Amino acid sequence: MKWLVIILTLAHVMANLPSPTEIGTKVAVSAVKQYLKSKFNGQDSVVGDLMSLRGALPPDVNLEEHSGFFQGDIVLDDAYIDGLVNSMLRNAYIGYDSRWPNNTVPYEFNHKDFDEEQQDAIREGMNLISNKTCVKFRPRLPKDKVYVNITGNATGCYAHVGYYPGLIKGTRVLNYAPHPPGQGCLKNGTIVHEQLHTLGFQHMHSTYDRDKWIRVIEENIMPEALSFFAIFTSDQVSNLGVPYDIQSVLHYSPLAFSRNGSYTIEALKPYEGLMGQRDYVTESDWLRVNRHYDCPGAWDEPDKKICDLC
Ligand SMILES: *[C@@H]1O[C@H](CO)[C@@H](O)[C@H](O)[C@H]1NC(C)=O
Ligand SMILES: *[C@@H]1O[C@H](CO)[C@@H](O)[C@H](O)[C@H]1NC(C)=O
Ligand SMILES: *[C@@H]1O[C@H](CO)[C@@H](O)[C@H](O)[C@H]1NC(C)=O
Ligand SMILES: *[C@@H]1O[C@H](CO)[C@@H](O)[C@H](O)[C@H]1NC(C)=O
Ligand SMILES: *[C@@H]1O[C@H](CO)[C@@H](O)[C@H](O)[C@H]1NC(C)=O
Ligand SMILES: *[C@@H]1O[C@H](CO)[C@@H](O)[C@H](O)[C@H]1NC(C)=O
Repeated sequence: MKWLVIILTLAHVMANLPSPTEIGTKVAVSAVKQYLKSKFNGQDSVVGDLMSLRGALPPDVNLEEHSGFFQGDIVLDDAYIDGLVNSMLRNAYIGYDSRWPNNTVPYEFNHKDFDEEQQDAIREGMNLISNKTCVKFRPRLPKDKVYVNITGNATGCYAHVGYYPGLIKGTRVLNYAPHPPGQGCLKNGTIVHEQLHTLGFQHMHSTYDRDKWIRVIEENIMPEALSFFAIFTSDQVSNLGVPYDIQSVLHYSPLAFSRNGSYTIEALKPYEGLMGQRDYVTESDWLRVNRHYDCPGAWDEPDKKICDLC
C-alpha cells in the first residue's frame, strides 16, 4: 500500500502536545473495561462490530490491532489490571516478572483448532525466536502447571502479556484466528508479534519516551480507542537500553484505530522501512528479547545492565 511507504522527514515540530493520558489510573482502566465490555467482549455482536470496523480500513491492515481487546490484542486479566491500577506493573519490557521460568515456554495447541500446516506456521515463529534468542518453546508436559493455551478463536489475534508468577496453575492465552498460513493472524510477523506478547512485551508505542519518536494524532483516533495510545511510565516499563524502533514488529501501524482513514501516528524523525510492518523481526526486537531474558552476550557491558528483575 502506498500509504505505508513513508519515509517521513520532520516538517514541523509539534508544540504543546497534550501530555498523554497515563495508563495507571482507576478511571483509565475502568474506561477501558467499559469500552471493551460494551463494544466487543462476549457478545454476539462481536463479529459484526469488528467487521464494520475492519471494513473501514485497508484490506492489509494488521488484524491484531482490531481483535477487540485492550490495545487491540492484549488480553487483560486481574493481575494485569491490578498492575495498571496500582502502578505495580513493571512491564512491557520488564514485567511483574513476566519472564517464563528457565526461559522455557510450555505450550499446547487447543485440540483441533488448527490443521497441521497452521500448527507448523505457528511453530516456525517459535523456532525463529529460539534461533535468535535463548528462549525455548516445548510442548507442555504433565508436570507443567502453567502453560500457553494456543487457541483458534476466529475473532482475531490476541495474547496475555508474559508469564505471571502469581499464577500457580492455569494457562496464558495465545490466540490466532485460523487463517491460511501467510495471511491475517497467520502472517509470519503477526505470529511472532503475538508470541512476543507471550514473552512479556508490550506494544512499542506504549513506552514512556515514544513522544520523542512519534506524534500520536489524537483527533484522528476513534474516541473509544484513545486509551490504547496511553503510555506506561518509566516505573512501569523498561526499554532495556534499546532505542525506540519504528520498524519493530511490535509497533502499531500508522492507521491504527483511525476513525476516518487519516493517520493516527506520524514519525517525527526520518526512518527506514515501514511503520507497523509484520514481515520481519528487527535486530532491536531480538536484542530486547535477549536482554529481557538475560541471554548470554545480550549485555555487552554488564555494568550497564538495565534489568530490574535479574
Ligand atoms: C471467542 O471470542 C468471543 C469474543 O471474545 C467469545 O465470545 C467466545 O466465547 C470465544 N470463544 C472461545 C472458544 O474462546
Ligand atoms: C527449571 O529448571 C529447574 C532445574 O532444572 C527445575 O528444577 C525446575 O522445575 C524448572 N522449572 C520449570 C518451571 O520448568
Ligand atoms: C533455526 O535454525 C535451524 C538450524 O540452523 C534451521 O534448521 C531452522 O530452519 C531455523 N529455523 C528458523 C525458523 O529460522
Ligand atoms: C484453551 O482455551 C479454550 C478456548 O478458550 C478453552 O476452550 C480450553 O478449555 C482451554 N484449554 C485449557 C487447557 O485451559
Ligand atoms: C478525520 O477526522 C479528523 C478529526 O475530525 C479531521 O481533522 C480529519 O481531517 C479527518 N480526516 C478525513 C480524511 O476526513
Ligand atoms: C516471513 O516471510 C518472509 C518471506 O518468506 C521472510 O522474508 C521473512 O523473513 C519472514 N519473517 C518472519 C518473521 O518469519
